[in-house]
Amino acid sequence: MSSYGAAPIGTGSYVPEKVLTNTDLEEFVETSDEWIRTRTGIHERRIAADDEPTSTLGAKAAEHALHAADIDASQLDLIIVATLSPDTPFPNTGCHLQRQIQAMNAACFSIEAACSGFLFALETAANFLRNGMYKHVLVVGAEKMSSVVNWQDRSTCVLFGDGAGAVVLSRVPAEHECLLASEMGSNGHHSDLLYIPAGGSAQPVTPEAMEKGLHYLHMNGREIFKLAVGAMADACSKVLSQAGTSSDQIRWLIPHQANTRILASVGKRLGVPPESVFMNLHKYGNTSAATIPLCLDEVVRNNQVDEGEHLLLTAFGGGLTWGAQLLRWPHPAPGTPQNDKTN
Ligand code: ACO
Repeated sequence: MSSYGAAPIGTGSYVPEKVLTNTDLEEFVETSDEWIRTRTGIHERRIAADDEPTSTLGAKAAEHALHAADIDASQLDLIIVATLSPDTPFPNTGCHLQRQIQAMNAACFSIEAACSGFLFALETAANFLRNGMYKHVLVVGAEKMSSVVNWQDRSTCVLFGDGAGAVVLSRVPAEHECLLASEMGSNGHHSDLLYIPAGGSAQPVTPEAMEKGLHYLHMNGREIFKLAVGAMADACSKVLSQAGTSSDQIRWLIPHQANTRILASVGKRLGVPPESVFMNLHKYGNTSAATIPLCLDEVVRNNQVDEGEHLLLTAFGGGLTWGAQLLRWPHPAPGTPQNDKTN
């Protein structure tokens, strides 16, 4: 049993200025505002500028999180960035982000677990804190999905958007542990349900691959829909039972923001009332690894969570990958000066 635990001490987020509405999309693909709203719940999404790669979105979210945590970037020991839209195959997006926020004492790496990436990164970060190796870890979920979707494919391009969220996670005494339970899963047998076929060593980007659009995201939406609900609900049930917590103790269920129908079904299966299922996908669409930290920061900034309340996070994405995490909101709350008195 470790003598240390992990606690969030600051959150932040950033979305690009440019808004792309469903009506705007009607101009270049055969779709309608009505279809997108009723099938997905999305009204609009944000699109990053040409000079805003994923790391820049993440860096802006990180700066807000560091400010809320009241620590300097130089105090970070580790940066983990979850993304499927890295700036470059290598160096990893964490290094690009590090340069922008001047966190020169941090080691940096990225995690690629598609939409589940942020949860995987959070649990990884927590373990570096619990084992006593580090004191402050920055966990970022950032995506420039507009760079990987095919803008001529109406079945995918209407779903995604750009954005980033970040959390500073810090080492605390074990009795103040805030990540109460965690579940992660994967099934590589379904890797072709949601993927980018070209751009890696299996299929480099060639003119032929580009001609076929293999460098863009491909998704079997109907199959993903069916699998997503069951996997997220099961993962949530497991973490609730691990922690001995019941669904009526959940202040917010924060599911990966893919589709309002998926989110509502997960809430229903768990017995979480609709008013406790957090949704902001009408504003941002599916920002992949960024959805959960974007929601988390919104909840915090709107004062919608109090000390000691429980947040249940869950995600599902390409891989396939899925996970859930139960968080108890810390005492003292993030942003208060006492928080810097971590061990
Ligand atoms: N506008 C208008 N019509 C459309 C559009 C569009 N943008 N897209 C598809 N359609 C049509 C289809 O062509 C089809 O027409 P047909 O019946 O004539 O063949 C019809 O609408 C229904 O298509 P479906 O794919 O069955 O629609 P569905 O109700 O399943 O909704 C959707 C599609 C929104 C993609 C849904 O399946 C979904 O949300 N899936 C899950 C996505 C997800 O959760 N992803 C998670 C992870 S993402 C990640 O890891 C990066």
